[in-house]
Order: sequence, then structure tokens, then C-alpha cells
Amino acid sequence: MSRSIKISPSILSCDFSKIGKEVESLEKAGADYIHVDVMDGHFVPNLTIGPDVIKNIRPFSKKIFDVHLMISPVDKYIKQFADAGSDIITFHPEATENMGKTIDLIKKCKKKVGVSLKPKSKIELIKDYLKQIDLVLIMSVEPGFGGQKFMPEVLPKLTELKKIIEREKLNVDLEIDGGINFENSKIAKEAGANILVSGSTIFKKNNGDLKKNINLLRQN
Ligand code: DX5
Ligand code: ZN
Repeated sequence: MSRSIKISPSILSCDFSKIGKEVESLEKAGADYIHVDVMDGHFVPNLTIGPDVIKNIRPFSKKIFDVHLMISPVDKYIKQFADAGSDIITFHPEATENMGKTIDLIKKCKKKVGVSLKPKSKIELIKDYLKQIDLVLIMSVEPGFGGQKFMPEVLPKLTELKKIIEREKLNVDLEIDGGINFENSKIAKEAGANILVSGSTIFKKNNGDLKKNINLLRQN
């Protein structure tokens, strides 16, 4: 089954003095999802935003809020992120002692479940859970900062996951996150990604022409 390509701009690269307006502009420019990077200065060496900010920007768009939690331990914050208006809640296996429990917590909040693999994290960590989740997010940079260089060595993980998903007829999206640009978007799709996250390319290229950049990522 081939899925349509979705673009999920990361607001990590937006102007934080007008974050609501930026979300509104992304929707107008044709974004499919809004990617929200949550960092705790502990699981990753950077701090960003929490549930209150998500709650405040929620009214600015009806698009799916694709919330990427880079926080640990993650369980005690799931409900707050769900109540704030997240639609997909993605966590890292290393951020929980019990993946099954974290998946159940997200499902209990009636949200979609994503699991993310850092560049060095192996598929084996999540293989047994593929039937229970909605999305796998493959990191193509070390999580923590926008604007880093794409790591092509993670692409075989997408190819292998796609094979498993097709063989087992699973309903799981494959998302790639980190350093995506107009050149590597093609190989990411060919490897199996159907959702592309992008921060700096969307906000900084072509003088910040969001619509043009979203279209180019979708088409290339
Ligand atoms: C990194 C974040 C990414 C990042 C993407 O930890 O998860 O979402 O902001 O930004 P670019 O596209 O600039 O690499
Ligand atoms: Zn992210």
C-alpha cells in the first residue's frame, strides 16, 4: 500500500515571538501536520516548550499536532500533552522503563502513538510493538537541535521497517526527522518515509517562502 506524502513542519525553526501566527501561516501554506519538538535539557541537551505553549497555539490551526517528546521519564507528562491538544504523541523507547505501559497511557488518552528511534537506536527496540503503534519516527540527526546535517546511514532502517509493515499488513506511518532538504527528500521517500519533518528548510530556504518550500519537499 502506498501512502500519500505528508509534510510536517517543525516549529522549532519558527519565530517564537509569534508562534501562534507561525502555526497559522504553516496551515495556510499547505502543511499537513504541525511538528512540535519538546525537549527537557535532560534526555537531550536543549530546552524548548511544554504543554502550556501547545495549549496556547492549539486554536491557531486545525491540523494534526505531531508532538515529538524528547523528555525522560515520559509517562508522567503524557496526559498533560494529550489534554493540551496533541494528536500524535511520539516518545523514545529510552525514555521509559516499560514501552507497553507508555503506549497504553497514550491510547487511554485516545491519541495516536508514535515511537522514535535515534540514529544509533536499533529497530529491535520497537519490533515487538509495531502492531500496537501508529507511527515510527526515524531520527536522521542526533535529537536536540534544528539545522543539523542529515545522516543517510539511517535510511536502511526505513527500508527494513517498510518491508515488515507491508509483509504484516500493518497500519503504521513512517516519518523521518532531521536535516531534510530538497535534495535528500527524494531518497528518504524512496527508502519508505511517508511523512517528512522539516524545520530549517521550510523556514529558512527561498527567503522563508513556506508554501514554496512545503511544495518542493512534497514534490522532490
Ligand atoms: C531535532 C528535532 C527535529 C528538528 C528538525 O531534535 O526533532 O524536528 O527540529 O529540524 P531540521 O529540519 O532543521 O533538522
Ligand atoms: Zn522532531
